[in-house]
Amino acid sequence: MFDAQDDCRTNPSAAPTFVDVIEQRLNRRQFLQGSAFALFAATIPSFSSKSAAPANTVQQGQALGFTEISSAISTQSRVAAGYKEQVLLRWGDALFPDAPPFDLQAQTAQSQQRQFGYNNDYIAYMPLEGSTRGLLCVNHEYTCPHLMFKGVTRKNAQAKMTPALTHIEMAAVGLSVVEIALMDDVWQVVKNSRYNRRFDALETIYAVSGAAAGHKRLQTPSDPSGKRIVGMIGNCAGGVTPWGTVLTCEENFSYYFTGANPLEQENNERYGVLQDEERYTWWATADARFDLAKEPNAPNRYGWVVEIDPYNPQSVPVKRTSLGRFKHECATCIVSSDGRVVVYSGDDQAFEFIYKYVSNGRFDPKNPKANTALLDDGILYAAQFKDDGTVTWLPLVYGKNGLTPENRFYSQADVCIEARRAASLLGATPMDRPEDIAISPVTGKVYVALTKNPKRLTVTNAANPRRLNLHGHIIEIIPNAGDHASIRDRWDIFLSAGNPNNTLEGARYHSDVSQQGWFSCPDNVSFDSLGRLWIGTDGAEKASSMSESIYACETEGGKRALTKRFYAAPIGAETTGPCFTPDGKTLFVSVQHPAEKSKSLEDVQTRWPDFDPKLTPRPAVVALRKKDGGVIGG
Ligand code: FEO
Ligand code: CA
Ligand code: CA
Repeated sequence: MFDAQDDCRTNPSAAPTFVDVIEQRLNRRQFLQGSAFALFAATIPSFSSKSAAPANTVQQGQALGFTEISSAISTQSRVAAGYKEQVLLRWGDALFPDAPPFDLQAQTAQSQQRQFGYNNDYIAYMPLEGSTRGLLCVNHEYTCPHLMFKGVTRKNAQAKMTPALTHIEMAAVGLSVVEIALMDDVWQVVKNSRYNRRFDALETIYAVSGAAAGHKRLQTPSDPSGKRIVGMIGNCAGGVTPWGTVLTCEENFSYYFTGANPLEQENNERYGVLQDEERYTWWATADARFDLAKEPNAPNRYGWVVEIDPYNPQSVPVKRTSLGRFKHECATCIVSSDGRVVVYSGDDQAFEFIYKYVSNGRFDPKNPKANTALLDDGILYAAQFKDDGTVTWLPLVYGKNGLTPENRFYSQADVCIEARRAASLLGATPMDRPEDIAISPVTGKVYVALTKNPKRLTVTNAANPRRLNLHGHIIEIIPNAGDHASIRDRWDIFLSAGNPNNTLEGARYHSDVSQQGWFSCPDNVSFDSLGRLWIGTDGAEKASSMSESIYACETEGGKRALTKRFYAAPIGAETTGPCFTPDGKTLFVSVQHPAEKSKSLEDVQTRWPDFDPKLTPRPAVVALRKKDGGVIGG
């Protein structure tokens, strides 16, 4: 649903696009005559991460042992032979003992607030007892009203969505915290857990901290303090902090507003607010929070990274504004060599940027409460990729480098609220839709999924036909001396997606990649504890007529970038949120928006996962395990 919108451009910058830089660079190095995959491999210093995952019984670097599945689009989900899939949590599943059973005909906002939300995305497994009992923290990104409510279609939603139905939508997004336990090789939901919680866009109150907290541009008639926001929206991917909290990211917040605020027109245009044709205009009818005529600054209150402490059921979620406001895909955390906390984040829209935040203070494992302040006091940087193979991190600091009143920045709050404009001013590199970011626990290298950008029309390079980037690529960033707080690193292309057998697509993988192993549109990425990269796709059905899938590959050695297809989602769904238990024996995957391209509930592409004619297709989290109980991937 959001696909075409995310490809839109709202960045008017004339800076060279990332593919311009790639093409200049690869052309100069005679890319097609050499191997892109060996570059810099010998220059990486050894890496030691304070948050590195624990070792387990499989040797680091062990080859991926599973047999690939086919690329066919199916009404069913599929996993490699020797593995089993358990549907663990579906939209509407009860999270509390008093939760009403899911009833498509009788759903209310109140029942939805006691049930698992819609369109599950990012997953964090937060251990209670190692890898057999934990808290699953799951984002719920957005709603598909045509698959939630009878009589609502993709075309008539504006007319059919009543306030009561809209409130169900608002209650269905946000984040769920759910205790789960592994019993007899099957995961169980612990409904009476004291940890289970729902955070939503309807009633949940979010505190605000950091540079923009309380600023007048965050104040509204309903919240003159600018520090108390009802709702979070567009929760896509996220991250886990070194002190054991979860960061959940507001991504496509721009689709929910109507009305106008001339004082924020330039700002709103830069974020696509009020510009998208397919937006949820009925939200403003149901709730003044989304009507700029009543709440003029409403859009400034969304688009942030939100911190949630799942281990404290009384904790208040906090929007951490020092990490900047944009369409955050993720917030991937690591501790730098000298103990500072680094958070990488992509801004998922065509021609937008990659950022990282570096705290001023140092992480103290003995004082967890003090660590939360690290996300309020630090420097936000935007990435500038150069054709000499370096990436410079540009500091977005008020009063410096033109981030001054002459350019309508009057405080660090303004810089954070308009992070995109600040990054443009400094010359950050416009990218092909930055999605998720993962850091290898073995090498410390950073991998950024750039999902695609068919709107990039301006580059002509016969040697690299990525002018219309339909398939995306994955960038590798190599921190200088292994230090994630470094402001000058190196970069390379890890792989370029697309069909390697079609030379016009310019795809690059390991040369042994199979007919099932290549892909389009990388979105979510995650490492297992052995340093193998797992990749989920969103857009492969459209770009390459193949199933959206989870792939795995090595990032080092002789099988670098040899991607293999492990799990396939049913038709219409994307595979998001890949997340391992610490022992590597369970892989949780979010199957988001199954059957999304259906017109309505009367004519669906699949009824996964229940296949019950009386039920709708339902987004769900699945748990994948090896039948012999071994480590995923072999
Ligand atoms: Fe919500 Fe960028 O995927
Ligand atoms: Ca996506
Ligand atoms: Ca995503």
